[in-house]
Amino acid sequence: MNIIEFKNITVLRNKTRILDGVDLTIVSGGNTAILGPNGSGKSTLIKLMTREIYPYNMEPNTFEVFGEKVWDVLALRGKLGIVSDSMAQLVNPDVTCFETVVSSFYNTTNMYDMTADKKATEKSMDSLEFMDVGHLKNRFISEVSTGEARRVLIARALAHNPKALMLDEPTNALDIAAVHKFRATMSKIAKNGVTVIIATHTLQDVIPEIKNIVMLKEGKIFLNAVKKQALTKKNLEGLFGIKVELSEDKGHYLMK
Ligand SMILES: Nc1ncnc2c1ncn2[C@@H]1O[C@H](COP(=O)(O)OP(=O)(O)OP(=O)(O)O)[C@@H](O)[C@H]1O
Ligand SMILES: [Mg+2]
Repeated sequence: MNIIEFKNITVLRNKTRILDGVDLTIVSGGNTAILGPNGSGKSTLIKLMTREIYPYNMEPNTFEVFGEKVWDVLALRGKLGIVSDSMAQLVNPDVTCFETVVSSFYNTTNMYDMTADKKATEKSMDSLEFMDVGHLKNRFISEVSTGEARRVLIARALAHNPKALMLDEPTNALDIAAVHKFRATMSKIAKNGVTVIIATHTLQDVIPEIKNIVMLKEGKIFLNAVKKQALTKKNLEGLFGIKVELSEDKGHYLMK
């Protein structure tokens, strides 16, 4: 079953087509990067996948996530982990890193007077450890660094063993060491069988496990191809509208 099956998807805002007739299929295991300049529609596409927003429905379209046309939030959460700024803003700053993760089992961001059950506690701690932030469990989420908070947010998403993880600009605001660590972690997650979908404007987020590249430009699919075909100097210059230098080293790409 495909994770994403979109055909002729359009999103209208202020009478403008911020996404225009997008066709996109993402198969299980088809790790994908959605690449494009600022304002090209990447976050809008991610929000469609997570069902935060819906497409324009006056034209025929296909809009399926995990083969379903309609979703309830709880069912989706079990299959799909989401890491984005809009998710980060939902997290309560006055709770510990452990609570940030464990509260997801109760569909909230604050445990108040509730005590987590054994299974939720174990899964949350496993997930924090997997993300190398187990030692931060008792620290307030507002008092850890941006990179650490990002890891905790990913731990929250992974605690439910999702089939797919969607990340919107995951390395924004991370320093170069944190970016390196992050890439290694993403590779680890992908090797664990989770399908990774990353929206980004930078090639540094395109980890070696990414198979497919979807290029978005002005709300339209500019190119959708396997990585080797997609990441060429000519395609990237067309996408970003400037001259670029492109290099590749053991599956890691760099654009200047
Ligand atoms: N709610 C909204 N109302 C009006 N315009 C919107 C809305 N949401 C997005 N847009 C516009 O749609 C376009 C695409 O926005 P989107 O956030 O998807 O781009 P993006 O590719 O994620 O950009 P960035 O790299 O800056 O994150 C932009 O021009 C944006 O201004
Ligand atoms: Mg964006």
